[in-house]
Amino acid sequence: METIFGRYARTSDCGSLRREAAGGQAVLMGWVHRIRDLGRAGMFVLLRDRGGITQLLFQPDLAAEAYDLAKTLGPEHCIAVRGEVGARDEKNVNPDMATGEVEVRVTDLEVLSRSEVPPFEISGHSEAKEELRLRHRYLDMRRPEFQRNFLMRAAVTQAVRRHMSQQGFMEVETPFLVKYTPGGARNFLVPARLKPGRFYALAESPQIFKQLLMIAGFDRYFQVVKCFRDEDPRQDRQVEFTQIDVEMSFVTEEMILSQVEGMARVIWKEAIGLDLPEAFPRMTYAEAMSKYGTDKPDLRFGLEHQDITELGRDCGFRVFEQVAADGGLIKAIRVPGAAKVLSRKKLDDLTRFVQREEVGPVAGLAWAKLQAEGAWQGAFPKAAKPEALDAVAKQCSMEEGDALLVLAGPAVNVHKAADALRRRLGADFGLIDESAWALCWVTDFPLFEWSEEAQTWTSSHHPFTMPVAEDLDMLETDQGKVRARAYDLVCNGYEIAGGSIRIHDREIQARVLRALGISDQEAKDKFGFLLEAFKYGAPPHGGIAAGLDRIMMLLTGTDSIRDVIPFPKTINGLDLMTGAPGGVFDAQLAELHVQVTGTAGGTSQDADS
Ligand code: AMO
Repeated sequence: METIFGRYARTSDCGSLRREAAGGQAVLMGWVHRIRDLGRAGMFVLLRDRGGITQLLFQPDLAAEAYDLAKTLGPEHCIAVRGEVGARDEKNVNPDMATGEVEVRVTDLEVLSRSEVPPFEISGHSEAKEELRLRHRYLDMRRPEFQRNFLMRAAVTQAVRRHMSQQGFMEVETPFLVKYTPGGARNFLVPARLKPGRFYALAESPQIFKQLLMIAGFDRYFQVVKCFRDEDPRQDRQVEFTQIDVEMSFVTEEMILSQVEGMARVIWKEAIGLDLPEAFPRMTYAEAMSKYGTDKPDLRFGLEHQDITELGRDCGFRVFEQVAADGGLIKAIRVPGAAKVLSRKKLDDLTRFVQREEVGPVAGLAWAKLQAEGAWQGAFPKAAKPEALDAVAKQCSMEEGDALLVLAGPAVNVHKAADALRRRLGADFGLIDESAWALCWVTDFPLFEWSEEAQTWTSSHHPFTMPVAEDLDMLETDQGKVRARAYDLVCNGYEIAGGSIRIHDREIQARVLRALGISDQEAKDKFGFLLEAFKYGAPPHGGIAAGLDRIMMLLTGTDSIRDVIPFPKTINGLDLMTGAPGGVFDAQLAELHVQVTGTAGGTSQDADS
């Protein structure tokens, strides 16, 4: 038997052979996916590589030596084969495989590298715990569905680069090791060996640098860039993630939004061949909060909220009257045709659900069912004045057989609870169209948020976001009402991009900083270099950043961002494969001028215990 590797090059990958190749010679290399022993008739081996899977046939009559060696193969052995491509009989054609019409009748086999029994099955659906799979990430990534995710991600990234370049954007790299500036996300800190006692921060985004690039006259910038944020990872959040970051000079919101719509169309087309509409619907932040209780509504289904606070004020139902009198919020969700299905048990279950701790206190879930012939059921309709009940029914478009679920309490909590309830009902009642792509812009965010903790106004976005012109008068008097020229792009309930028009006017910038309670000195200390740059003819500019990982998570149809990041961190921020973050030695800390008690002498293995 001839050796193969080093002597022959691969003729194709394992996903390429078709019927037309029959009769020719093939050289393939890859991993043993599955083995099926046919006894005397021979042995089938499915060979897998990045391109796909091809069936190999080993037969003693065809090549005894190769057949004998094939008998010693196991899952995930890495092999090279040579043989003739044969068309399969009609009855053996596998329509589920791209290469299902052919097989390679192997004459030469070379084992390039044997594999120990893998800790979990790579062919077929793995039930293995994610922890085990993350420890052996390189094996998990061999799975065809994972390879598909990463191939799609690579194709999307390329398409974005191509498209943005065609649109006149230049890709510029910005530093990762930056100056720490308070506010925004929590930064990772890196001790500066050459400057004892000083630290770099890992950039949470290129925000300030891309604005400086506009001042530098770069006009249209983009970058596919890593960002670092020391936040708790979640299903849709990682401590290091990738943005498609964009900034443009001499633009209005309209130009940025349409530019991003164009980019999104390219992404969806490249990834799944889908044509998104020319322009995406828009709604203001106020509308999103009122109808959905969130600034990232999932618009694949209805169940919109109705604000019935005014009707509750004097409705006869004590709980609602009290909430209205206390300045709270009352929201109702009509669930069409649910009067029968929402049993007592189900309602109790939903009540517990909306009272979960993270939402904060809300008065329990009130419900009302409109039965046949206009008969009402529920504590609220029993106590309510008939005219109030009629008005509620009218506002909510109640029909016979419908149920109404009502939440009352402090506005923030009610929004959160009603948002969670809407999504839960949407899922429970199967109302979500899983094949839909509901993209939507949310605009006119508030410029400031009140921080109870700091007892001051803070930036909702960042301090360089331009206020809406009509609201400028309120900067000193009614900060809570000032709207920002900021926008988010939402898809199926996820925020996939966010940005704003920036302030390029020094006077407005000074007023915003004052409203944030930042003194001139403090401003100078924190971002004096940027304020300084604004003195030299800053162009009007604005931009946006899209979360590439989140977009890929949606496009690949997974519900975990980890499935589209090659080497992700766990919910606890650990890399289970390498053991990062690992311990370090005293000597290293001393060199960095960092004194920490109790960290000395660790090894990388300590990290995951
Ligand atoms: P922002 O903080 O909204 O804006 O981030 C932009 C987009 O990045 C994604 N994203 C994340 N994805 C995964 N894990 C995370 N931890 C994470 N955090 C954010 C989201 C989000 O919409 N400099 C501004 C942009 C600008 O104003 O131009 C910024 O970073 O999809």
